[in-house]
Amino acid sequence: MKKLIILFLTVILCADFVYPQQKRLTNETESEKAERMQWWTNDRFGMFIHWGLYALPARHEWVKQRERLTNEQYQKYFEEFNPEKYDPVQWAKAAKAAGMKYAVLTTKHHEGFCLFDSKYTDYKATNTKANRDLVKEFVDAFRAEGLKVGFYYSLIDWHHPDFTVDRMHPQRTESQSVYDSLNIGKDMNKYRTYLHNQVRELLTNYGKIDILWLDFSYPGENGKGRDDWNSIELIKMVRELQPGIIIDNRADLNDYADGYDFETPEQVSPKELAKYKGKYWETCQTFSGSWGYYRDETSWKTHQQLLDLLITSTANGGNLLLNVGPTAKGEFDYRARKALKELGYWMDAHSDAIYHCTYAPDEFALPENLNARLTYNPTERKLYLHLFDYPSTGTITLPNYGGKVRYAQLLNDYSEIQYQQTNNNKDIILTLPKVKPPYEVTVIEFLLK
Ligand code: GLC
Repeated sequence: MKKLIILFLTVILCADFVYPQQKRLTNETESEKAERMQWWTNDRFGMFIHWGLYALPARHEWVKQRERLTNEQYQKYFEEFNPEKYDPVQWAKAAKAAGMKYAVLTTKHHEGFCLFDSKYTDYKATNTKANRDLVKEFVDAFRAEGLKVGFYYSLIDWHHPDFTVDRMHPQRTESQSVYDSLNIGKDMNKYRTYLHNQVRELLTNYGKIDILWLDFSYPGENGKGRDDWNSIELIKMVRELQPGIIIDNRADLNDYADGYDFETPEQVSPKELAKYKGKYWETCQTFSGSWGYYRDETSWKTHQQLLDLLITSTANGGNLLLNVGPTAKGEFDYRARKALKELGYWMDAHSDAIYHCTYAPDEFALPENLNARLTYNPTERKLYLHLFDYPSTGTITLPNYGGKVRYAQLLNDYSEIQYQQTNNNKDIILTLPKVKPPYEVTVIEFLLK
């Protein structure tokens, strides 16, 4: 009997281990989620926009923290904020031309400054020389271009008087007693109410919002997490106010199946993206090392690196959210414009290999020595081969593709790519044009049987 009980308990425990009962906030099913996520999964490519007072110092959006600036020292940026060239219609047009389908704007970053007209603070764009609700104009402009609209909202706030000093804060210290004395009189309850009120404003006053990007949690000693934000009530409220909305995973609710909708690998290399296959995910990436406008930053990614991120994301079933940090004047700087234009040139000819695409079925593999990726449109049964190096031999052999392909063509002009079957019809050999097509990455479209 004892043995039987032990066996019974072991089975139950193992079952729970293998199929952990994930906690839930709502009763949405997986297929309902898939439907809600569908536009996002199809669109694959969005624009992140980090814009705030940190555009003035122009030396990283964490400048207040990095240089341990006080509110008083940071105040000059509020007073001089005067984005005379802010015209989100231009931003939206640039995003659209680059092939992006949605955009996520920092309505408030860690510095606490609000680009929107919140009734819960004076620290907002309407009280600067800009003198208007900049979020409203963003929403109108991007919607008018047919782009989906997302809000980034910083859970962290280095300006709010009740936000306690913690290990990420500009006034962080080494000693607990200093923390304690710095935090006398600060009331996180009040900050929590502020945060919930502002999220409610954002999700009430601007119509349908497609994405909410909360950022971020760092639980543990002198950190902040779900209890500090009251994440459970926050996410419940968000889903109630905007039932269709898609939420990132930074509110510290990863043990709830619907505490978030997608994972957010940040600034990872294309190689690392393979491990997210099969999940909902979006990698967020900068053009250079900083999210906010950084004048003197020179480590800008090349056109090939950016294409690699976009294509490799799709090739692993995920999205790319590519960031622009507009200047204090309100514009995309020349480097960002150039990068977006180049992406647009490629996307104009190759977006069929991105939108509605995902990873290829297992039966299609790539030869090891070929620097290439595969993407796949399952509804149209089209397979796309992206060549990062153009073969000098003029031919490419694809093992085990024999008998599976009906027709092959260059995606940029629909010119036929001839091929022969070899090795008992198991493999195919493609004959490529001698001159590489005028695009950084060449794409061959296979219409499958
Ligand atoms: C980080 C940074 C931040 C940036 C964000 C984008 O968490 O704190 O500056 O907004 O990532 O993913």
